[in-house]
Amino acid sequence: MALLSSGKTGAGSSVLGQRTAPAATTGRLGGLMGNYDKGENRGITSGLSLRKTAKISDEEFAQLSAFIYEKTGISIPDKRKYLLENRLGSRLKELGLNSFKEYYDFLRLDRNKTLEMDKLCEKVTTNETSFYRDIRQLNIFQNDILKEFIKAQEAAGKKEIFIWSAGCSSGEEPYTLAIMISEVLGMSIIGWNIRIAANDLSPAMLAKAREGLYTEYSLRTTPKGIVAKYFDKEGEDYRIKSRVKKLINFGPINLSDAAALKRVPKSHIVFCRNVIIYFDDPMKQGVISAFYDNLVPGGYLFLGHSESIHKLSTAFKPVLKPGGMCYRKEG
Ligand SMILES: C[S@@+](CC[C@H](N)C(=O)[O-])C[C@H]1O[C@@H](n2cnc3c(N)ncnc32)[C@H](O)[C@@H]1O
Repeated sequence: MALLSSGKTGAGSSVLGQRTAPAATTGRLGGLMGNYDKGENRGITSGLSLRKTAKISDEEFAQLSAFIYEKTGISIPDKRKYLLENRLGSRLKELGLNSFKEYYDFLRLDRNKTLEMDKLCEKVTTNETSFYRDIRQLNIFQNDILKEFIKAQEAAGKKEIFIWSAGCSSGEEPYTLAIMISEVLGMSIIGWNIRIAANDLSPAMLAKAREGLYTEYSLRTTPKGIVAKYFDKEGEDYRIKSRVKKLINFGPINLSDAAALKRVPKSHIVFCRNVIIYFDDPMKQGVISAFYDNLVPGGYLFLGHSESIHKLSTAFKPVLKPGGMCYRKEG
């Protein structure tokens, strides 16, 4: 299960700074102080009463975190209790709910709970990503693994490359991989069958990925020549070209759903970077084992630079290269 991150820059972090709102916008919250921190109003001298932030009790936290774990596999340790409180506090306000208990009941009983589950996932995950993120590791992918793999495939008469980008967020990672494949193959890409399966828990991130429109900030570490070649300028933003887009299939997958992971088509290379860092050990083990089963013999696994399977799995062989590493499924 994924652990709630304190993410400094991800989508979820945007709610972290939210504290109070004018009483005029509080709807039915006004006067319901029992669950709110009256202390937050100290020092306000305007005479306006500000909307209070709901406090989560230990019992509410236990209920809600167990529910989140059961439905999404995301695990929130006790020390992140107040982060959950902050992130979901704004949602309670939007819904006009007075306590986390009410929110818990709403999640369990509401007929539109799929929609609310999506919102909940957005609040408890960190979606930070960018094009050409961790360039040293990506260079290993492009210059070592991919080039060698393409040669081996050509020698075997199998012009196909199947990649799985698990936890792809808003698409920057799989698009980067598709661009790198395009760079290596050049014009000969026409004769190749390339498929990148890109999955995430968050429907909002997947919608953004499918849209394929990015700000300059998403491209801040992307070589200028690559931006010019693979993107069309649209106002201030950049749209990925359709010849890159068509190499990728975006879809929802919860990495805690073992049955769904089994249905992902076999891959030559799996990318799951900056995702398992938020998982606890049993969840990491389940996911790594699913990647192992998904990979063809001789396939490669790329994790984030601060993620390791050292204590979790001996099935993969570490492949050490200057500037980074990946793992190989022996076969
Ligand atoms: C920090 S982003 C990493 C994005 C990209 N891999 C990268 O390295 O730039 C982590 C992503 O993992 C997704 N995620 C977290 N837990 C997940 C789960 N249980 N199943 C699927 N995706 C999950 C989040 O929604 C988020 O988009």
